[in-house]
Amino acid sequence: MSLCNYVIALAVSAVLDGIVAFRCDDHLPPGSVPSIAFHQPMTAMHTRARLQRNSKRPLRRLASSPSTSVTREQDARAAAESRPAVPYAEIQHAGVLCSDTPAALEFYTRVLGMANETHLRPTTLPYPGAFVRVGSNQIHLMELPNPDPTEGRPDYPARDRHIAISVYDLMPLKERLDEHDVKYRMSSSGRPALFTRDLDGNGLEFIQVDLTERQLYSGDS
Ligand SMILES: *[C@@H]1O[C@H](CO)[C@@H](O)[C@H](O)[C@H]1NC(C)=O
Repeated sequence: MSLCNYVIALAVSAVLDGIVAFRCDDHLPPGSVPSIAFHQPMTAMHTRARLQRNSKRPLRRLASSPSTSVTREQDARAAAESRPAVPYAEIQHAGVLCSDTPAALEFYTRVLGMANETHLRPTTLPYPGAFVRVGSNQIHLMELPNPDPTEGRPDYPARDRHIAISVYDLMPLKERLDEHDVKYRMSSSGRPALFTRDLDGNGLEFIQVDLTERQLYSGDS
């Protein structure tokens, strides 16, 4: 155990007893002595101590009494629960990298049948790209350097990064894919879902959903 870890172990046990919080420089030159600052216990410092503790190898609690740490966990949970819930709505758009905007747009509009909404794309964006509509959301095709390989990706896009899109009927999509000789495969689970890739190897999943789900979703009666 390095000197720094040893000092952390001592300090963490003291923090758990509610006595002190500590600071220890992770990037000390070899041989130098870590600096330790003692403070009154504060929530942020406890959090930092906990994060630092978790980022190291697991350290033994040396002298903490179970009752104080249980109380502290309850306090932390109560504080978390008193925060307002984050009112998530939906995934607004997916950003997809492409190497050739006109070709990608052709694939998404002519083959997949999505509407071209590039007129809504800010003209100030400093790289080529396009917008296509997917129900109430969009895909942003972005012509930017791709740090990922586009070849040699897993055969089954379900086992790769992918975007899942719901459709009310898979049939018209299947016909388009067949017509353009685009490879796809149905979900191996037997769900009404198909997986394919775009021209740049981006995985796409299309899941057939019921119209009643749309009614539930949009509040239509
Ligand atoms: C898509 O829309 C943009 C902007 O209106 C237009 O310039 C472009 O030609 C359209 N492309 C296709 C394939 O529809």
